Amino acid sequence: MAVLCCAVLVLVCVLHSASDTVVSDMDYGGVPLWINRILGEPSVMSLQGRMDQAWFQTSNPQACPQQCECPIQWPTALYCDNRGLAELPDSLPDTVQYLFLQGNNISSLSSSVLSNVTGMHWLILDRNQLQSDKLDPAALQKQTQLSHFFANHNHLSSVPRALPAGLKQLRLAHNQISSISSGAFQNLHNLTLLLLQGNKLQTITDGDLKGLVSLNLLDLSGNLFSTIPVHLPPSIQQLYLSNNSLSGLDEDSFVKLLNLKYLRLSHCGLQSRSIHPQVFNFSSLVELDLSYNKLTTIPTVPTTLQYLYMEANEIQEFNVTSFCREVGPMSYSTMKILRLDGNKMSYHQLPPNWVFCLRVLESIYI
Ligand SMILES: *[C@@H]1O[C@H](CO)[C@@H](O)[C@H](O)[C@H]1NC(C)=O
Ligand SMILES: *[C@@H]1O[C@H](CO)[C@@H](O)[C@H](O)[C@H]1NC(C)=O
Ligand SMILES: *[C@@H]1O[C@H](CO)[C@@H](O)[C@H](O)[C@H]1NC(C)=O
Ligand SMILES: *[C@@H]1O[C@H](CO)[C@@H](O)[C@H](O)[C@H]1NC(C)=O
Ligand SMILES: *[C@@H]1O[C@H](CO)[C@@H](O)[C@H](O)[C@H]1NC(C)=O
Ligand SMILES: *[C@@H]1O[C@H](CO)[C@@H](O)[C@H](O)[C@H]1NC(C)=O
Repeated sequence: MAVLCCAVLVLVCVLHSASDTVVSDMDYGGVPLWINRILGEPSVMSLQGRMDQAWFQTSNPQACPQQCECPIQWPTALYCDNRGLAELPDSLPDTVQYLFLQGNNISSLSSSVLSNVTGMHWLILDRNQLQSDKLDPAALQKQTQLSHFFANHNHLSSVPRALPAGLKQLRLAHNQISSISSGAFQNLHNLTLLLLQGNKLQTITDGDLKGLVSLNLLDLSGNLFSTIPVHLPPSIQQLYLSNNSLSGLDEDSFVKLLNLKYLRLSHCGLQSRSIHPQVFNFSSLVELDLSYNKLTTIPTVPTTLQYLYMEANEIQEFNVTSFCREVGPMSYSTMKILRLDGNKMSYHQLPPNWVFCLRVLESIYI
C-alpha cells in the first residue's frame, strides 16, 4: 500500500508541474468547464478515477480549502459551488485564478479575504445573497487580472464600486439594481459584455455608462424602462430590451448606435401608432425581434435585414414596401427568416409580388 501511495504521489507531482506549465501558457479561453477532462490527456483521466479526493486534500492542505474541490488537472481552479457556504473559504490558495462559488449563501465580500490572491481571472458568485452594503470596494479593486465577474441572482441594489479596469464580462442580472451611479464604469475600457436584465432600472443618464468604449452586448431586458435609453455606448452591437413596457419609439431612438446589429424588443407592449415608421430603417441591423407586441403593421426595415421576428402581434396586412423600396434585378431584401405566425393574417393574403422582393428567404412562418 505504501509503495502504491508513493508511486501515485510521484505521478501527481509530475502531472502537477506538467499542467502548471500548460495553464500558464494557455488561458482556457473563458470556458469554465472541466476542460482537461473533456479534451483528453488520458493518463490524467485514468489517474482521476483512482484518486481519493480526501487523500489528496489531506496531502495538500495549503492548496485546497476543506470546503472546496481542487481539480488536480486544472490547478488554478477551485470549485466551491453549491455547498451552502455563508462566507468565502478562508485561506484561499494564492495561486487561484478561477474561483467557482455559485449557489452558496454568501452575503459579503471583505477586502481581506482575497488579500493574498493576485491572479484571479474568473470570480463566479451567481445565486448567492450578496448585498451592496456588504461589498468592500477594496475586495475587487486589487484584482488586476480579473476579467470575468459574475454575480447574477443576488441581492445587489447598485453596481459594485471600484471594479478592476481589466474586466471583460460583468454579469449582474436578476438583482435589485435601480440606478447606476455616475462613473461606475468609467475605467472599464475593455468590458465587452454587460448583463443587467431582471433589475429595476428606469433610466440611464449621461454619465452612467461612460467609459464602456468596447461594449458589444448590453442586456437591459426585464427592467422598468418606458422609453429607449438615450445615453448608450455607440460601440453596442447587441441591445436587448425585451420585457420593458415601452410607450413608443421615436425616429432617433437608435440613431447614435451606428454598430447596432441585433435588437430585441419582444414583450414591450409596442403599438404601431406609437412607433415612428422609419425607426428601424438603418443599415447596420441584421436581426430584429418584435415578437409578442401589439403591432398591426410591419414597420419599414432595411433591405439588409436577415432575421425578423414578429410572431404574436396583431398584423393584418402585408405590404412589400416594408421590406423593399423598389423591386428589380439588383434591389431586393436579404431577409432569410421571417416569422409572422400568431397574427391576424394568412398565407393567401401575401401580395403576388412578395417573392420578387423576399427572393432569398429560407423560412417564412405565417
Ligand atoms: C443562508 O443564511 C441564512 C441566514 O444568514 C440562513 O437563515 C439560511 O438557512 C441559509 N441558507 C442555507 C441554504 O444555508
Ligand atoms: C495571507 O498570507 C499570510 C502569510 O502567508 C497568512 O498569514 C494569512 O493568513 C493569509 N491571509 C489569508 C486571508 O489567506
Ligand atoms: C485591455 O485590453 C488590452 C488589449 O487586450 C490590454 O493591452 C490592456 O492591458 C487591457 N487593459 C486593462 C486595464 O487590463
Ligand atoms: C419576458 O417575459 C416572458 C413572459 O413573462 C417570458 O416568457 C420571457 O422569457 C421573458 N423574456 C426575457 C428576455 O426576459
Ligand atoms: C430607408 O433607408 C434607406 C437607406 O438609408 C433609404 O434609401 C430609404 O429611403 C429609407 N426608406 C424609406 C421608406 O424611407
Ligand atoms: C403599401 O405602402 C405604400 C407606401 O406606404 C403605399 O403607397 C401603398 O398603397 C401600400 N400598398 C397597399 C396594397 O396597401
